Amino acid sequence: MSSVFQDAIANLLSPIGDLLKDPSVSEIMINGPHEIFVEKKGLVFRVPNKFLDDESLMASMRAVAQSVGRVIDSDNPRLDARLPDGSRIAVVIPPMAKNGTTVAIRKFSEEKLGLKDLISFGSISPDAARFLDCVMYLGKNTLVSGGTGSGKTTMLNVLGGRMPKTQRLLIIEDAAELQIKAEHVVQFETRKGNRERGIKEVTIRDLMESALRLRPDRIIVGEVRGPEALDLLNAMGTGHDGSMGTVHANTPEGACTRLETLCLMGETKIPPDAIRKMVGSTLQMIVQCSRYHDGGRRTSHISEVLGVDEHGRYVVRDIFRWVQTGKEAQTGKFIGEMVPTGYVPSFFDEFIANKLPFPKTNFKPPEWAIPILKKAA
Ligand SMILES: Nc1ncnc2c1ncn2[C@@H]1O[C@H](COP(=O)(O)OP(=O)(O)OP(=O)(O)O)[C@@H](O)[C@H]1O
Ligand SMILES: [Mg+2]
Repeated sequence: MSSVFQDAIANLLSPIGDLLKDPSVSEIMINGPHEIFVEKKGLVFRVPNKFLDDESLMASMRAVAQSVGRVIDSDNPRLDARLPDGSRIAVVIPPMAKNGTTVAIRKFSEEKLGLKDLISFGSISPDAARFLDCVMYLGKNTLVSGGTGSGKTTMLNVLGGRMPKTQRLLIIEDAAELQIKAEHVVQFETRKGNRERGIKEVTIRDLMESALRLRPDRIIVGEVRGPEALDLLNAMGTGHDGSMGTVHANTPEGACTRLETLCLMGETKIPPDAIRKMVGSTLQMIVQCSRYHDGGRRTSHISEVLGVDEHGRYVVRDIFRWVQTGKEAQTGKFIGEMVPTGYVPSFFDEFIANKLPFPKTNFKPPEWAIPILKKAA
């Protein structure tokens, strides 16, 4: 991007310049020119920053759109783009947006969180992290599931970095967000179409088709939210074990159902029952990310998908779960920790065969957690 654009954008966005620079701000939400909220450390609150009026806010959004070769106007009232620093921005303008031009900026951070950070925040236990390492090593087909902003992309990024060095990873995303630290990584990004300018759309499905011809060992789809789900499932089932993606769902079972629904979105001739069986037999692990009421983001479940039972229900067993034991009186922060549930994954024999340093005793829950786990079950 030319520096002219960068300067113009920086100038137009100067009312929120301090927020964009502040590394402790992770998200900026603009609900019309005079109402701005930020997220810091997982908590959302209002800040005094204001744009002069809707026109000046709109002008900055037009510049952002222009810088990525797009337009935002009454015919194109929505925009998903990236700022020069890589931050993700989503915009909806009036009359669709009733508060005035509405914007959310997910700040880009150079320093992506690693497994160590997640452990130090208490969002995953050291044992569970080691377990996920083993899962990545063994190449289990894994979905990272969670609600909006729950930490899915962060988790996928962390997991991607734990894959064996010898593997060729092919990453497909709508907007390149993942920065997987591995030796052999190929990254693809989709492109929006623009008929007037003769630009053809390139979808995740298109890139998936190419990816499969490019000799990937594992495929990672940043966000699975359309019929590409079926392609990913097929890839997982045909020799690209250890492929991964994220889906929007609130529980591990919900993630299975979500994937199934997405598979059916395409013009597939495969009947729903067969798709469900495919999901049940192909998908192996679910890492559930959750955002709790105290603002904390935690890995709430690490679960194994075992298939579909005779009633057509997914059989999903939790291996680790985050349990709450209390609440800090002053801060309102939840107290709790991630514990094993006692369920030993069906593929534990592979741990032994591969001499992975993860003894079976690590799946045993601590005494204190047993009643809590029972109650939740
Ligand atoms: N375990 C965690 N603890 C604290 N902060 C986290 C944790 N995981 C992610 N974050 C932060 O939360 C924000 C959202 O994370 P991320 O982008 O991974 O979420 P997401 O679920 O992919 O969101 P979206 O649904 O918008 O794609 C980021 O600023 C990230 O740094
Ligand atoms: Mg994401």
